[in-house]
Amino acid sequence: MVHRVKGIVVMGKNEPVSLQTVLVPDPGPGEALVDIITCGVCHTDLHYKLGGISDDYPFLLGHEATGRVAAVGEGVTEVAAGDRVILNWRAVCGECRACRKGQPQYCFNTHNATQKMTLEDGTELSPALGIGAFIEKTLVAAGQCTKIDEESDAAAVGLLGCGIMAGIGAAINTGAVQRGESVAVIGCGGVGCAAIAGAALAGATTIIAVDIDPQKLARAEQLGATHTVNSSETGPVEAIRALTGGFGADVVIEAVGRPETYTQAFYARDLAGRVVLVGVPTPEMTLELPLLDVFGRGGALKSSWYGDCLPSRDFPMLVDQYKLGRLDLDAFVTERIGLGDIESAFEKMHAGTVLRSVVEL
Ligand SMILES: NC(=O)c1ccc[n+]([C@@H]2O[C@H](COP(=O)([O-])OP(=O)(O)OC[C@H]3O[C@@H](n4cnc5c(N)ncnc54)[C@H](O)[C@@H]3O)[C@@H](O)[C@H]2O)c1
Ligand SMILES: [Zn+2]
Ligand SMILES: [Zn+2]
Repeated sequence: MVHRVKGIVVMGKNEPVSLQTVLVPDPGPGEALVDIITCGVCHTDLHYKLGGISDDYPFLLGHEATGRVAAVGEGVTEVAAGDRVILNWRAVCGECRACRKGQPQYCFNTHNATQKMTLEDGTELSPALGIGAFIEKTLVAAGQCTKIDEESDAAAVGLLGCGIMAGIGAAINTGAVQRGESVAVIGCGGVGCAAIAGAALAGATTIIAVDIDPQKLARAEQLGATHTVNSSETGPVEAIRALTGGFGADVVIEAVGRPETYTQAFYARDLAGRVVLVGVPTPEMTLELPLLDVFGRGGALKSSWYGDCLPSRDFPMLVDQYKLGRLDLDAFVTERIGLGDIESAFEKMHAGTVLRSVVEL
């Protein structure tokens, strides 16, 4: 059977998104059909729309979602119809060279649904990050469903599906922040604020939030920043050094995705410190650094794909931290909107007035 449902599609580069009828097939072997409950609006959805990710239009947007499994295909044992799930874009294969090295968080062959969702005229859709969740029902690989309990607010815990996990994981997994360390986060949108919350969860004692928008800095303080720097007024490298005894932070997390903010992160860390790039650059961006500084400052320059998370390990653990009151996921939900409000959510993201707009279906 094919399900006819409404979903948010972008037909071509920088065209406005539109509500389209989408045909979703029943799940085949290894697949799950999921009724979407909530889906957050992530900056990466805007990158898809603007052509920063690929040219495989049309895209079915949305990927930061909770849902309820409606049906599973042949051979699926990890989830069953009725399960409440967060969707993930890291369904590890277990067989690629990363998985075989015992590093499934880098899995190079993550699973997505094999069957395609299409428009009514048969045009195949590319689902954002292999999910596509601004839609009533979506089709994913069963491994993209991480089962969670029934109790917590779907809009809040669903944010763990992408940006908030990326930010928290940039701190606790990629940056491996330790108790007592100093951490600076450049860019305090949803991802950067999550990195701040992650640094707090890991026990960092100096947490410096850097942004050009004072509203973002106020939210960062609510989520655990001990100091704030408005980098449109103050040089962030000097300010971070001044707040860390003149040396720089142990870990600096770049959550903007631009060469100038990466360069700030590079120079704002202590000798032998770690830089974590979690912001996603666009294809035309390049970086120039004196190679002697790369050598002389030592330490580690790491990128964080999806917070180096393992959904089956990290999502339930972070839902538990939320339920224990140690991780304020509610603070990330700025507004609850409908499927028709995505363009205005993009505008608010651009204007910097929201951390996360969450679509409720
Ligand atoms: N690595 C991953 O797996 C992953 C996952 C999700 C999102 N991301 C990326 O993370 C980045 C942030 O996403 P988001 O949803 O938080 O976006 P966002 O738009 O909510 O936040 C970006 C923040 O950066 C600030 N900013 C912009 N220019 C700045 C500058 N020059 N100096 C300091 N701050 C500046 C903005 O004021 C804003 O607060 C994006 O590039 C997104 O694509 C990465
Ligand atoms: Zn793998
Ligand atoms: Zn995302």
